[in-house]
Amino acid sequence: MSNDDSSSAKPAPKLWGGRFTEATDAFVERFTASVTFDQRMALEDIQGSLAHARMLSEVGVLTTDEYQRIAAGLHDIAGEIAAGDFPWELALEDLHMNIEARLTERIGATGKKLHTGRSRNDQVATDIRLWLRGRIDEIAEELTRLQSGLVELAQREAATIMPGFTHLQSAQPVTFGHHLLAWNEMLQRDYERLQDCRKRLNRSPLGAAALAGTSYPIKRARTAELLGFDAPTENSLDSVSDRDFAIEFCAFSALLLTHLSRAGEELVLWASNQFDFIDLPDRFCTGSSIMPQKKNPDVPELVRGKTGRVNGHLIALLTLMKSQPLAYNKDNQEDKEPLFDSADTVLDCLRAFADMVPSLRAKKENMLAAAARGFATATDLADYLVRKGIAFRDAHEIVGQSVAFAIAQQKDLAELSLAQLQQFSTTIDEDVFDVLTLEGSVAARDHIGGTAPNQVRAACERARTLIAAR
Ligand code: ARG
Repeated sequence: MSNDDSSSAKPAPKLWGGRFTEATDAFVERFTASVTFDQRMALEDIQGSLAHARMLSEVGVLTTDEYQRIAAGLHDIAGEIAAGDFPWELALEDLHMNIEARLTERIGATGKKLHTGRSRNDQVATDIRLWLRGRIDEIAEELTRLQSGLVELAQREAATIMPGFTHLQSAQPVTFGHHLLAWNEMLQRDYERLQDCRKRLNRSPLGAAALAGTSYPIKRARTAELLGFDAPTENSLDSVSDRDFAIEFCAFSALLLTHLSRAGEELVLWASNQFDFIDLPDRFCTGSSIMPQKKNPDVPELVRGKTGRVNGHLIALLTLMKSQPLAYNKDNQEDKEPLFDSADTVLDCLRAFADMVPSLRAKKENMLAAAARGFATATDLADYLVRKGIAFRDAHEIVGQSVAFAIAQQKDLAELSLAQLQQFSTTIDEDVFDVLTLEGSVAARDHIGGTAPNQVRAACERARTLIAAR
């Protein structure tokens, strides 16, 4: 297929050429064509055509013999496409007309009957839904693989202590398993959003024809059933025009990638010399061409970066759809590249994470030491004082003074002596050291959604049950 505008000296005849008196401008031919990218939906297009032709034969618009010839031709064409032998022609504009023309070339005049009672408008609306449904199912599988790996890692790290952060400052100790399960919660909601999108997408627009329906005695419920759709769409004008299902998918993608970018960012931070909380296997990292010591976390960095393009695709589709009058407009041809790239990027990023996350190694000693450094049990000391009858706001002040003193002494709270602590409150007793330990602090947060190791294990169990029910 040539993109050289000057090469089409002899214009190819168009399937819609009847009312035209001059050939299409060579540049316009290239400008309006979609075959360079929509051929990705070829198998779905053939699937849709097979269902349409079969229904037409069942209602008597095609004879059984015509249907069989069309079906055999379409199967042969599917083989040609799979083998990479299909002669795609830019002059035939899009995938639909390429396949139809090829069918007629292969089986003769019967091929010209395939387009009875349909339009490229309902055809393309059907193809995109079928194509996207396939990608959604692949994405759901990959998302499940990532979540399973994450939950297993969380189970192993249920009692591993690390600092929890707010404002990226040490706040309170948490368990690493608990942190990983926070990621899993985000992904669980993404999974539910994806299934929700699939549910609304899974209606058949076939039969809406160009915009108003068709005068042939078609059976829309039959083609819907043959294509695995839940039902036909309701309104023909809406069926050929709206791409809200693609926008919903892109919104899902943008949120998922936003979540992965947050996890990616944390992996990058944790793998740095400054945090040194984790080791990423070499196979997920790359080196520097100039600095021999470097081991760069490219994979999580790239996932973080690819979020930009996926967020952009959402805006592209929203803007594409905005203000379009009913029904089909050629604008909608622009829906495909952002949608395809979103699906590709989401699948790649999920694959990267699903492969990488279960194999990261937690540097438990470093995590523990960091948790011990940041006065992470200060809230526990305040809660201890409250349990002994002091009002929380007063307890907050007492602990604040203790922290200031500890900073001056270059010590952590647990390293101060009882006498030193009692300078700030005589209510403090020997038993204070039980709550100043990191283990005591995490174990005390023992309720649903809390960071206590036994709660993390119970949450892993619930997450596994949800995943297994898919
Ligand atoms: N290539 C077109 C698209 O992707 C197919 C539908 C064209 N319909 C039309 N009436 N020009 O939207």
